Amino acid sequence: MDEFLQGWIDWLNAQPFQQTIRYTEWVVPTVQTIHIVAVAVVITAALVIALRGVELTGREWSLARWHQRFRSGTIAALWVLLATGLVMTLAEPERELLNWIFRAKMVMVIVTLIIAHFLSRRLEQAKPDRPAGGDVRAAAFLVLLCWIGIATAGRWIAYAG
Ligand code: HEM
Repeated sequence: MDEFLQGWIDWLNAQPFQQTIRYTEWVVPTVQTIHIVAVAVVITAALVIALRGVELTGREWSLARWHQRFRSGTIAALWVLLATGLVMTLAEPERELLNWIFRAKMVMVIVTLIIAHFLSRRLEQAKPDRPAGGDVRAAAFLVLLCWIGIATAGRWIAYAG
């Protein structure tokens, strides 16, 4: 696997656009900043929804209504995370692609998106003023924990793996 990826890494490192991204001083810090702001958007939405599920916040709105409120913002932030993450990966492909924490993070992102998708569908089908079931509330908490795990992995890439 590493040998296969090394071929791609060498190819990427030989591309002029890669050199521009890697060696233009402001690019990586700017993209990292945008990545972190998008993380804040995703985790804030997941936190409010998880806490609403256990009646700890936002009780004036149903879970389904909170979900509606945050849905498009979260989707936009996830596209931003993908785009900025790709730029960071392009900037230093060997640092990311050969790191097992990065790979684990990508798997966690896919699994979390699948869980979040099913949660989202359940909340879209829910009656806006009916209390959500226990499974929906548990899934909302699980999604929050997953995003926190992904953010933790993202930070650890710099130190381990
Ligand atoms: C969607 C695809 C994503 C890709 C391709 C991606 C990629 C990356 C990359 C390449 C880094 C830099 C790691 C390093 O070299 O130190 C990073 C950092 C990070 N990522 Fe992501 N990421 C994605 C999604 C997410 C999500 C969904 C979250 C959290 C909800 C997240 C949270 C973080 C955090 C907290 C950092 C550390 C930033 C820093 O310390 O400056 N990422 N990500």
